[in-house]
Amino acid sequence: MRVNFKRKFFKITRLVFHKKCFFVVLIICSLSMISLFYLLQWNIICLNIDIENRLNILCNEYSQGKAFGRLCEPLCNNGEISALSCESMHKGKFAVFTALWNNSLIVIKSHRIKSEYIPLQWTNSNSSEVYPNYQELVEMVTQSMLVNFGIQKENLMDHLYPFLGDYKHEVNRELMINLWQLSQDNEYVTLMINQHSHLFPKILSSCGTFYAVEYAKPISRLNIYSDRPEDFYARIHQAKFMLELLDDLHTTFPDPVHVCDVKLEHFGLLNGRQVLLDADTVFPKTVVDRSVGDGRECRKHSDCDLFDCRSLCNKVLHVCDTPTVNNNLQIVCQKVFLDSGLLISRHLPSDMNRLIKECANPYLSQGRQAAPVQFHYELANFFNEFLRMVAHPENTVV
Ligand SMILES: Nc1ncnc2c1ncn2[C@@H]1O[C@H](COP(=O)(O)OP(=O)(O)O)[C@@H](O)[C@H]1O
Ligand SMILES: [Mg+2]
Repeated sequence: MRVNFKRKFFKITRLVFHKKCFFVVLIICSLSMISLFYLLQWNIICLNIDIENRLNILCNEYSQGKAFGRLCEPLCNNGEISALSCESMHKGKFAVFTALWNNSLIVIKSHRIKSEYIPLQWTNSNSSEVYPNYQELVEMVTQSMLVNFGIQKENLMDHLYPFLGDYKHEVNRELMINLWQLSQDNEYVTLMINQHSHLFPKILSSCGTFYAVEYAKPISRLNIYSDRPEDFYARIHQAKFMLELLDDLHTTFPDPVHVCDVKLEHFGLLNGRQVLLDADTVFPKTVVDRSVGDGRECRKHSDCDLFDCRSLCNKVLHVCDTPTVNNNLQIVCQKVFLDSGLLISRHLPSDMNRLIKECANPYLSQGRQAAPVQFHYELANFFNEFLRMVAHPENTVV
């Protein structure tokens, strides 16, 4: 009787234990699936299979005469482009991946899925679709460049679409759709218009809404989390390059250029200089000012921001009516030097630490402010002096 009871007892506990185990395993599996879903959804990790699917669609369009450009053949047909690998951590674009083209690293990007572009056609009073002719398209692109990017250029179409010459005799409707879609891609336009600037990687060619750019090693892949002296010197070097880049953005354009999505991952190294890798929100000041002060309703200041480009909410009228109040230097000090940790180090002198914090939060009591140019000079002097000292320790004044 006792033995029987014992056996039953063990049977029941084993069952309960098994059930418990089952539930624990079920919960772990569900949590893993949910985490995996979000890791993929937010592009924290990526899968190469996605690239294949996207390229299959693109190459299908190419074979049907719906995608144009000099990237189509090497990407879809002659096998010149190989070893594709997806880039994680991209937030805005539909596709970003690296590849090899004749043994050189390139990055291929596309802004949106096709259905998300503003259509080329409109509907008339008879509810039928109307497409513009080529001259009307040129006018539409010209106006869009002026309003959205502040760009006015002779031979605009040739600048924006170098491959257009290949199709000059036959600009059909599909080609016009392709051109119109590319004109809505901020990064494509910014890079194409600045092909001769050393501040951005060059666009090599495009196919449909996909385009290939030069690979520039992201500085986030340097050893920035190590605090060994030699790694800290390398970080100071990059900070110095970054200030030079900001200087060029301010001085080499008729209207200073603002970078509104600043992250360490968005700065890369190309030919010994730093370049901007994500040009989706890089605009002339006039365009940013118009966007952040566009009169939309607001409750708090951040309702008026364009990513990192900050503005103010008019507390009486509850509208955004103020041009950009911060600047590139303030954003870099805050988001790169401090938040990303590029200049967080025990080797950093305390007065420099104070300066960087002040640069990130200038005139703290007065709210959102731009970092004064004086901070730029002080930081640049410190970086130069520091690097000189490291290179020639014998000249150090004590
Ligand atoms: N030209 C490039 N060379 C090397 N890496 C790049 C290049 N462009 C982008 N990347 C890397 O891919 C990441 C995602 O690209 P990005 O243009 O920022 O996409 P998204 O607009 O979706 O954020 C970047 O943060 C950067 O690390
Ligand atoms: Mg990005």
